[in-house]
Amino acid sequence: MKVVVIIPTYNEKGNVRPLINSLLNVFRSISHDMHILFVDDNSPDNTAEIIQKECQKHSNIHLITGEKKGLGAAYIRGMQYAADCLKADVLMEMDADFSHKPEDIPRLLSAIDKGADFVIGSRYVRGGKIPRDWAFWRKLNSKWGNFFARYIAGLYKIRDCTAGFRAIRVSVIKKIYLTNLKVKGYAFQIALLHRAVASHAVVREVPVEFIDRVEGETKLGLADILEFIINVFWIRFNNSRTFIRFAIVGTSGVVVNLTVFTVLVHSGINKFIASPVATEVSILSNFLLNNFWTFRERISKDIIPLKGLKFNVVSLIALGFSFFTFILLSFLFPDAAPQVHQAIGIIPATLINYFLNSYWTFKDHDHS
Ligand code: GDD
Ligand code: MN
Repeated sequence: MKVVVIIPTYNEKGNVRPLINSLLNVFRSISHDMHILFVDDNSPDNTAEIIQKECQKHSNIHLITGEKKGLGAAYIRGMQYAADCLKADVLMEMDADFSHKPEDIPRLLSAIDKGADFVIGSRYVRGGKIPRDWAFWRKLNSKWGNFFARYIAGLYKIRDCTAGFRAIRVSVIKKIYLTNLKVKGYAFQIALLHRAVASHAVVREVPVEFIDRVEGETKLGLADILEFIINVFWIRFNNSRTFIRFAIVGTSGVVVNLTVFTVLVHSGINKFIASPVATEVSILSNFLLNNFWTFRERISKDIIPLKGLKFNVVSLIALGFSFFTFILLSFLFPDAAPQVHQAIGIIPATLINYFLNSYWTFKDHDHS
């Protein structure tokens, strides 16, 4: 079995040589044909030159280079190269910064040997670890990322959806049309996992300890986080009829809101009264459509007025989230048009709205 460990690098000059030594050492204890493929995006710190020297010494080390388009774009190129040019049977994903321990590779591969198609080096199953000294916000960032992936994108059964340490059979990759994945950044991890699950790959999680990097710094940026949120939302949208209905109802609410507002103002009612009245009418029409259409299969123990009240509470919470996003973006990007801030605010508001209404207002009491 030919295994290619794909390692994307961007400004990792302090890490690559020690990592290569450590990997070659671990490879000695593995019976498979082990290779390393670096995908470097023309790192300005000349990471590629260091790798190039190692390629000349070892025939199982490979390098491809290209323009920097993000972590996902680098993996897509690397996976295609490993499958088509190197004729790999199994691919691995791994970071260059020693966050993933080379010593764990044999355990990931033995899960493949036992029949799994997609093995995740998981921090969130029993025995897995995240650094004990992780600051609160880092834990939160990782936790909510997984929470979104599990409950919004629907990958409920998997504990560590965002992990970047994996072993995947090429047969799975061949079923996934990599070039159709529109993700460029870190969102790639959940997009790929989602496609694998959808194509019925056997997924296993193997506990690993995630170590903080010592050399260099993280490349995760705001654009990656935004792309991640949009992608989770997109996966849900494509997957769930319920969510599509919910989105259609939400759009109809905008029409109702503006129509009622216009009618009221034209009939001489003060606009400061017309505005909240129009909003409340649209909340109620949304509620009724959701109750009798979107969530009609749900069996509820609440009477309709109580559900209506809950729906109103959720709308207020969502309003809070979109306003918070608006304020945050206004301070972070004061030069962008306020319409952009307002539009982006719709994303968290829709997610919160859907999530709370689905799991609270219209909770299904049939199965619980
Ligand atoms: N070629 C290329 N191009 N490599 C990149 C790019 C890029 O645009 N961005 C990052 N990398 C490389 C880094 O050099 C490193 O080897 C690896 O990808 C991971 O980047 P880090 O910046 O160290 O990521 P992280 O530690 O924040 O994120 C890790 O944990 C996440 C989950 O918490 C990674 O494992 C992610 O894949 C994972 O989702
Ligand atoms: Mn890292």
